[in-house]
Amino acid sequence: MPVKRIAVLASGRGSNFQAVIDAIARGEIPASCCGLITDNAGAYAIERAKKAGIPVYIVDYGAYPVKDAYEQALCRVMKDLSADLYILAGYMRILGGGIVKHFHGQLMNIHPALLPGFPGLHAQRQALGYGVKVSGCTVHFVDEGMDSGPVIIQACVRVEEEDDEETLSARILALEHRCLPEAIRLFCEDRLIIDGRRVRILPGSATSPER
Ligand code: GRF
Repeated sequence: MPVKRIAVLASGRGSNFQAVIDAIARGEIPASCCGLITDNAGAYAIERAKKAGIPVYIVDYGAYPVKDAYEQALCRVMKDLSADLYILAGYMRILGGGIVKHFHGQLMNIHPALLPGFPGLHAQRQALGYGVKVSGCTVHFVDEGMDSGPVIIQACVRVEEEDDEETLSARILALEHRCLPEAIRLFCEDRLIIDGRRVRILPGSATSPER
């Protein structure tokens, strides 16, 4: 199976990006990472990319007069990379409709809650505020809405009595670092079929790590 080209979009710390870099290095994902794209020149994710020898593309949101111009520049960079998959790993902007349409089925996002509950910012705070007893993370394909595309993988954690936003976020983040590489692996093994709202996962071969 030919190795897929994947690109990551991240705005900050980049711990999910690191989990993907590490999973590729361990041979768990049949992919090569062809670029990190960031809207934030100060993102720590840039250091991680440099250390791993991954090219960095900074499309600085603040350098463009209007959102449209930023989106056009971003779309150009994405097209030039011609990746099979673009992963939003802590990319803190909503992608414009043009990009979402153009890259339909090739955009993946990780969200720190069990969607459709608690979309948008501060998902862990929202979950605690609501008083749910379980929360978790969701990896999904991106559509035109906010955190609303077809779900690929979800995993849950119990919300403990003593949890605050920090402790709950840390436990969810540990799950994210497992679920995102797993979803990318399934994509790279051509095992994800989008069927309306559902994502069907085809069975693995005898050599799949989950067997
Ligand atoms: C993660 O919680 C992710 O789910 C959310 O933003 C956070 C990014 O963390 N979309 P990191 O930059 O990957 O460390």
